[in-house]
Amino acid sequence: MAQAVALVTGANRGIGSETAKQLAAKGHKVLLGVRSEGSAREVADVIVENGGVAEELLIDVSDRGSIEKAVGEVRVGGRLDVLVNNAALLLDIGKQPTEVGDAEMRQTFEVNFFGPFYLTQLLAPMLMASPAGRLVNMSTTVASLNQLADPDSPARDDICPAYQASKAALNVLTLTFAKQFTDSGSAAKSNSCCPGWVMTDMGEEDLPDYGEGVKPKTPAEGADTAVWLATLPADGPTGGFFSGRKPRAW
Ligand SMILES: NC(=O)c1ccc[n+]([C@@H]2O[C@H](COP(=O)([O-])OP(=O)(O)OC[C@H]3O[C@@H](n4cnc5c(N)ncnc54)[C@H](OP(=O)(O)O)[C@@H]3O)[C@@H](O)[C@H]2O)c1
Repeated sequence: MAQAVALVTGANRGIGSETAKQLAAKGHKVLLGVRSEGSAREVADVIVENGGVAEELLIDVSDRGSIEKAVGEVRVGGRLDVLVNNAALLLDIGKQPTEVGDAEMRQTFEVNFFGPFYLTQLLAPMLMASPAGRLVNMSTTVASLNQLADPDSPARDDICPAYQASKAALNVLTLTFAKQFTDSGSAAKSNSCCPGWVMTDMGEEDLPDYGEGVKPKTPAEGADTAVWLATLPADGPTGGFFSGRKPRAW
């Protein structure tokens, strides 16, 4: 059987690089989505040293032309089974909604919402044609509308309105793609996940009060739920939001 192919955006560092390594260890050929050439060389070297297959794929998810070029290259390969929309940015940590600038809001949506939207829209036919197509959107529980609406939730204090809005919008894509996949009779699944609080460049910036004794995860631990969702069996869930492999409220 031909080798399954996974594309992970933002695969050069943080949770994305660990997601790529773990998918390669599970037998996927991994396309390492990066916006600067050579930035995932070390990740690719580790994968190859461990007997896996990896290739860099240039993609800046804030640039429609770059997305289209990358999709063209994926199509040439002829197969895509897994898409992990991982690349993201967080610009407005600690800001009140009145303090978020227009440029900051728009840039956040370009990377965290429009990029994943265009990329998924263009690659959906390949995911739907796969015997086990899996879309995984890397989201966050700080964008959970249930938590934000709960006056007793500590998550209400993790303010980053642009980031939260972009990830809540991404979660809607998860649900609408899940419905389209199912309604079309495809075996493809679509889920969102939160990696938890993870020690990456983003996670180090984002130091909310998760309560005494709550420890940040390593990037490898943070990748676990995304990899689990990317490799779900045929009877696995679709249209869900997960953290620690457990369902969470939207
Ligand atoms: N860390 C946490 O505690 C935490 C918690 C909840 C959710 N998350 C989510 O988990 C995912 C990974 O986060 P992380 O902590 O690993 O973040 P990170 O260390 O800041 O890495 C972000 C990645 O996104 C890439 N990226 C940013 N803008 C891009 C663009 N325009 N085009 C292509 N790639 C771009 C970066 O590439 P460059 O190296 O080129 O900048 C980098 O590879 C994100 O979706 C984040 O929202 C993280």
